[in-house]
Amino acid sequence: MTALNAGLFTLVGTLIVCVIAFMLARSTQPAESKDSAVPRVYRARLVYFGFIAVALLAGLALTLPRTPYASSRNPVVPDIRVAVSGWMWTWRFDSISGDGARVGAQDLRVPVGKMIEFDVTAGDVNHGFGIYDTEGQLLAQVQAMPGYGNRLNYRFSKTGVYYILCMEFCGYAHHLMTATIYVE
Ligand code: CUA
Repeated sequence: MTALNAGLFTLVGTLIVCVIAFMLARSTQPAESKDSAVPRVYRARLVYFGFIAVALLAGLALTLPRTPYASSRNPVVPDIRVAVSGWMWTWRFDSISGDGARVGAQDLRVPVGKMIEFDVTAGDVNHGFGIYDTEGQLLAQVQAMPGYGNRLNYRFSKTGVYYILCMEFCGYAHHLMTATIYVE
Protein backbone atom coordinates (compact mmCIF):
# COMPACT_ATOMS: atom_id res chain seq x y z
CA MET A 1 0.00 0.00 0.00
CA THR A 2 1.43 3.34 -1.00
CA ALA A 3 1.50 6.29 1.38
CA LEU A 4 -1.20 7.99 -0.72
CA ASN A 5 -3.49 4.95 -0.53
CA ALA A 6 -2.88 4.67 3.20
CA GLY A 7 -3.71 8.35 3.61
CA LEU A 8 -6.93 8.04 1.59
CA PHE A 9 -7.88 4.91 3.53
CA THR A 10 -7.42 6.76 6.83
CA LEU A 11 -9.35 9.80 5.54
CA VAL A 12 -12.31 7.68 4.41
CA GLY A 13 -12.28 5.78 7.72
CA THR A 14 -12.24 9.03 9.69
CA LEU A 15 -15.14 10.45 7.61
CA ILE A 16 -17.20 7.30 8.23
CA VAL A 17 -16.59 7.57 11.98
CA CYS A 18 -17.56 11.27 11.91
CA VAL A 19 -20.77 10.55 9.97
CA ILE A 20 -21.73 7.77 12.41
CA ALA A 21 -21.01 10.03 15.40
CA PHE A 22 -23.09 12.85 13.84
CA MET A 23 -26.02 10.52 13.12
CA LEU A 24 -25.90 9.15 16.66
CA ALA A 25 -25.84 12.64 18.11
CA ARG A 26 -28.86 13.66 16.00
CA SER A 27 -30.87 10.57 16.80
CA THR A 28 -30.44 10.93 20.56
CA GLN A 29 -33.82 10.81 22.25
CA PRO A 30 -35.02 11.26 25.83
CA ALA A 31 -33.93 8.47 28.15
CA GLU A 32 -35.88 5.28 27.75
CA SER A 33 -36.48 2.71 30.46
CA LYS A 34 -33.95 -0.07 30.66
CA ASP A 35 -36.54 -2.84 30.43
CA SER A 36 -38.00 -1.66 27.15
CA ALA A 37 -34.54 -1.14 25.64
CA VAL A 38 -33.25 -4.65 26.38
CA PRO A 39 -35.04 -6.50 23.53
CA ARG A 40 -33.90 -3.88 21.03
CA VAL A 41 -30.30 -4.10 22.18
CA TYR A 42 -30.43 -7.87 21.92
CA ARG A 43 -31.85 -7.65 18.42
CA ALA A 44 -29.16 -5.15 17.38
CA ARG A 45 -26.51 -7.43 18.83
CA LEU A 46 -27.88 -10.38 16.87
CA VAL A 47 -27.90 -8.39 13.63
CA TYR A 48 -24.35 -7.20 14.32
CA PHE A 49 -23.20 -10.76 15.03
CA GLY A 50 -24.90 -12.02 11.86
CA PHE A 51 -23.28 -9.28 9.79
CA ILE A 52 -19.80 -10.04 11.18
CA ALA A 53 -20.28 -13.80 10.73
CA VAL A 54 -21.41 -13.41 7.10
CA ALA A 55 -18.55 -10.99 6.34
CA LEU A 56 -15.96 -13.34 7.85
CA LEU A 57 -17.37 -16.42 6.11
CA ALA A 58 -17.47 -14.56 2.79
CA GLY A 59 -13.85 -13.48 3.29
CA LEU A 60 -12.87 -17.04 4.09
CA ALA A 61 -14.70 -18.44 1.05
CA LEU A 62 -13.10 -15.86 -1.24
CA THR A 63 -9.52 -16.22 0.02
CA LEU A 64 -9.25 -19.90 0.98
CA PRO A 65 -9.10 -21.20 -2.63
CA ARG A 66 -6.20 -18.81 -3.28
CA THR A 67 -3.91 -20.27 -0.62
CA PRO A 68 -0.82 -21.93 -2.10
CA TYR A 69 -1.09 -25.21 -0.18
CA ALA A 70 -2.63 -27.19 -3.04
CA SER A 71 0.30 -26.44 -5.35
CA SER A 72 2.77 -27.76 -2.78
CA ARG A 73 1.17 -31.18 -3.15
CA ASN A 74 2.51 -31.33 -6.71
CA PRO A 75 6.04 -30.13 -6.15
CA VAL A 76 8.07 -29.06 -9.14
CA VAL A 77 10.79 -31.46 -10.24
CA PRO A 78 14.00 -29.44 -10.34
CA ASP A 79 16.45 -29.68 -13.25
CA ILE A 80 19.39 -28.89 -11.00
CA ARG A 81 19.96 -29.48 -7.33
CA VAL A 82 22.46 -27.45 -5.36
CA ALA A 83 23.29 -28.20 -1.74
CA VAL A 84 24.60 -25.07 -0.10
CA SER A 85 25.56 -24.34 3.48
CA GLY A 86 26.29 -21.12 5.29
CA TRP A 87 29.29 -20.78 7.58
CA MET A 88 30.78 -17.79 9.33
CA TRP A 89 31.47 -16.14 6.88
CA THR A 90 31.20 -17.96 3.63
CA TRP A 91 28.83 -19.94 1.46
CA ARG A 92 29.85 -23.48 0.69
CA PHE A 93 28.47 -25.38 -2.29
CA ASP A 94 28.47 -28.91 -0.94
CA SER A 95 27.10 -30.80 -3.89
CA ILE A 96 25.48 -30.20 -7.24
CA SER A 97 23.57 -32.40 -9.64
CA GLY A 98 21.97 -31.72 -13.00
CA ASP A 99 23.18 -30.93 -16.48
CA GLY A 100 25.18 -27.81 -17.21
CA ALA A 101 25.77 -26.67 -13.64
CA ARG A 102 29.23 -26.16 -12.18
CA VAL A 103 30.62 -25.04 -8.89
CA GLY A 104 33.71 -22.91 -8.35
CA ALA A 105 35.39 -21.68 -5.20
CA GLN A 106 32.87 -18.98 -4.41
CA ASP A 107 30.64 -19.16 -7.41
CA LEU A 108 28.06 -21.23 -9.12
CA ARG A 109 27.37 -21.51 -12.84
CA VAL A 110 23.94 -22.60 -13.96
CA PRO A 111 22.13 -22.61 -17.28
CA VAL A 112 19.34 -20.10 -17.83
CA GLY A 113 15.70 -21.17 -17.61
CA LYS A 114 16.23 -24.28 -15.51
CA MET A 115 14.42 -24.94 -12.27
CA ILE A 116 17.05 -24.95 -9.58
CA GLU A 117 16.50 -26.38 -6.16
CA PHE A 118 18.73 -24.95 -3.45
CA ASP A 119 18.95 -27.20 -0.42
CA VAL A 120 20.08 -24.73 2.19
CA THR A 121 21.50 -25.38 5.61
CA ALA A 122 24.05 -23.85 7.97
CA GLY A 123 27.11 -25.20 9.72
CA ASP A 124 27.31 -22.93 12.75
CA VAL A 125 24.69 -20.25 13.32
CA ASN A 126 21.62 -18.99 11.50
CA HIS A 127 22.29 -17.29 8.19
CA GLY A 128 19.96 -15.95 5.55
CA PHE A 129 20.29 -17.16 1.96
CA GLY A 130 19.23 -14.34 -0.33
CA ILE A 131 19.55 -14.19 -4.12
CA TYR A 132 19.96 -10.68 -5.53
CA ASP A 133 20.34 -9.27 -9.01
CA THR A 134 22.97 -6.67 -9.91
CA GLU A 135 20.49 -3.89 -9.10
CA GLY A 136 20.36 -5.13 -5.54
CA GLN A 137 16.82 -6.42 -5.85
CA LEU A 138 15.99 -9.45 -3.75
CA LEU A 139 14.68 -12.27 -5.96
CA ALA A 140 14.32 -15.17 -3.54
CA GLN A 141 15.36 -16.02 -0.04
CA VAL A 142 15.27 -18.77 2.55
CA GLN A 143 16.68 -19.25 6.04
CA ALA A 144 19.91 -21.21 6.47
CA MET A 145 19.65 -22.96 9.81
CA PRO A 146 21.97 -25.42 11.53
CA GLY A 147 20.41 -28.88 11.65
CA TYR A 148 17.66 -28.06 9.15
CA GLY A 149 17.45 -28.29 5.39
CA ASN A 150 15.29 -25.63 3.76
CA ARG A 151 14.44 -25.89 0.10
CA LEU A 152 14.20 -22.99 -2.29
CA ASN A 153 13.15 -23.46 -5.90
CA TYR A 154 14.12 -20.74 -8.30
CA ARG A 155 14.29 -20.36 -12.06
CA PHE A 156 16.58 -17.69 -13.51
CA SER A 157 14.79 -16.36 -16.58
CA LYS A 158 17.64 -14.08 -17.69
CA THR A 159 21.34 -14.68 -18.13
CA GLY A 160 23.70 -12.57 -16.08
CA VAL A 161 25.36 -12.20 -12.74
CA TYR A 162 23.52 -12.71 -9.49
CA TYR A 163 24.67 -12.58 -5.91
CA ILE A 164 24.03 -14.62 -2.83
CA LEU A 165 24.14 -12.38 0.22
CA CYS A 166 23.66 -13.31 3.84
CA MET A 167 20.45 -11.80 5.15
CA GLU A 168 20.86 -12.50 8.83
CA PHE A 169 23.41 -10.71 10.97
CA CYS A 170 25.88 -13.43 11.91
CA GLY A 171 28.95 -11.65 13.24
CA TYR A 172 31.48 -9.02 12.32
CA ALA A 173 32.16 -10.30 8.80
CA HIS A 174 28.50 -10.86 7.96
CA HIS A 175 28.68 -8.34 5.13
CA LEU A 176 31.47 -10.33 3.46
CA MET A 177 29.38 -13.48 3.27
CA THR A 178 28.70 -13.41 -0.45
CA ALA A 179 28.90 -15.72 -3.45
CA THR A 180 28.23 -15.22 -7.13
CA ILE A 181 25.88 -17.05 -9.46
CA TYR A 182 26.58 -16.86 -13.18
CA VAL A 183 23.52 -17.69 -15.22
CA GLU A 184 24.62 -18.67 -18.72
CU1 CUA B 1 25.83 -15.16 7.59
CU2 CUA B 1 25.20 -12.96 8.04
